[in-house]
Amino acid sequence: MPERVVVPIQDELDIVRARQEGRQLAKEAGFGPVDLARVATAISELARNIYNYARPGSIELGAVQRGSRRGIEVVAQDQGPGIADIEEAMRDGYTTSGGLGAGLPGTRRLVDEFEIESERGVGTKVTIRKWLR
Ligand SMILES: Nc1ncnc2c1ncn2[C@@H]1O[C@H](COP(=O)(O)OP(=O)(O)OP(=O)(O)O)[C@@H](O)[C@H]1O
Ligand SMILES: [Mg+2]
Repeated sequence: MPERVVVPIQDELDIVRARQEGRQLAKEAGFGPVDLARVATAISELARNIYNYARPGSIELGAVQRGSRRGIEVVAQDQGPGIADIEEAMRDGYTTSGGLGAGLPGTRRLVDEFEIESERGVGTKVTIRKWLR
């Protein structure tokens, strides 16, 4: 796969770095301004979750191709506490931190593909993909 970038998520500024790297990559891939904003927001939400609940972790970004379709893939990964009930965590308004509980369900709506794997005591991996129209 060409050009994969890994941004470690440890400090709060790393959230901004991941967002900028993602925006840059998505721009190079040919996404328009609205989708750029969607990708950047999705990356911020995933990076902030790592920072808030599971740091350190990482955001891996890369261009992807499937058949004739091109897009961007983002893998957010950590070895944090994991999520006990994924279904619950994906519900609008569910939060354990007094947040809005909008991060994960919102991210799912912003992208074309959303996969989440999490195991208590092992960590969490979220993979998202956005395809060029
Ligand atoms: N990487 C992670 N590791 C462990 N728990 C997580 C992780 N990401 C999310 N969670 C759990 O899932 C819940 C829902 O996450 P979500 O991002 O939807 O909402 P939030 O972070 O609580 O609020 P918001 O994102 O709206 O500020 C979190 O409150 C937290 O308990
Ligand atoms: Mg969140």
